[in-house]
Amino acid sequence: MGIVLGIESSCDETAAALVTTDRQIIAQRIASQDEAHAPYGGVVPEIAARAHAEKLAPMIAEVMAEAALDFQDLDAIAATAGPGLIGGVMVGLVSAKALAMASGVPLLAINHLEGHALSPRLADATLDFPYALLLVSGGHCQILQVNGVGDYRRLATTIDDALGEAFDKTAKILGLGYPGGPAVEKLAREGDEKAVPLPRPLRGSKEPHFSFAGLKSAVMRAKDSGQYQNADIAASFQQAAIDCVLDRLRVSLDAASPLPSLVVAGGVAANSAIRAALEQFAQVRAMRFVAPPLSLCTDNAAMIAWAGAERLATGQNDPLDFAARPRWPL
Ligand code: KG4
Ligand code: ZN
Repeated sequence: MGIVLGIESSCDETAAALVTTDRQIIAQRIASQDEAHAPYGGVVPEIAARAHAEKLAPMIAEVMAEAALDFQDLDAIAATAGPGLIGGVMVGLVSAKALAMASGVPLLAINHLEGHALSPRLADATLDFPYALLLVSGGHCQILQVNGVGDYRRLATTIDDALGEAFDKTAKILGLGYPGGPAVEKLAREGDEKAVPLPRPLRGSKEPHFSFAGLKSAVMRAKDSGQYQNADIAASFQQAAIDCVLDRLRVSLDAASPLPSLVVAGGVAANSAIRAALEQFAQVRAMRFVAPPLSLCTDNAAMIAWAGAERLATGQNDPLDFAARPRWPL
């Protein structure tokens, strides 16, 4: 059994976690910067980077102390190396490099998307490759065929906004504040999803891509018309988003080789209406449905440590001059 330290700092969550190669999360800390960014209605990169620089080192010291470990006891140090806001990514990656250099422990520079993609295997030891992955967060919106560690085939991506971004923009239009996803979901529970006619962009298209920009504009028009209650707009938006996701999944999976499991990951996977719809979709297609616990869906360091453990098990590590990458497709 080995132990991996994971570090996450690519967006607005600062996080550190210790995870064992047999799937135990032995210590973790996470600090959200929501309050710092809320007045701006979105993440401000400079504020994010400064907050990571303040919070990360004490957080790492805390998890190490909680587990009563020295850095030399670790089997690897894994940090998000991209994609993300470059200032924040560099705080985490450079910290990991310094620790790796001083302790002689191998460094793993992790693709944040790989962290999300492999996180369901941290929660569920029975989830084997290959699986279909719906990866939906604030910055990403993809359907992937996950064949193995480092072996990902992209089946679909968004041509404009990510799904989480569409939730965040809808929240902004409705005056619900930031981050918007949870607020839209909560308000949607009180509304009628049939009340507001909204488009389902790309529905029926054979190209397996997502598009949410038109949906966002329609939400804005609905709000501006003054004809609808906010709760009805939220519910109708969420239903339109669900319809789009299911339609795009259907097209993507029909075109791929049969996959036994459907897995959802990324921040939007925290949405219970979307989870329920996906579960039903999987059942109809005789696929197993796997969703990690909510704490592993949104950004966290345990998933980065776990991706490190998976890569370590295949004999990989990364050099100390590994460059941070603002863009890094899987
Ligand atoms: O994975 P994540 O924490 O960060 C990124 O890598 O982007 O995802 C954050 C995104 C935000 O857009 C947030 O609004 C969305 O996930 N989100 C939700 C819910 N919880 C978080 N969207 C819809 N419903 C939710 N319950
Ligand atoms: Zn993420």
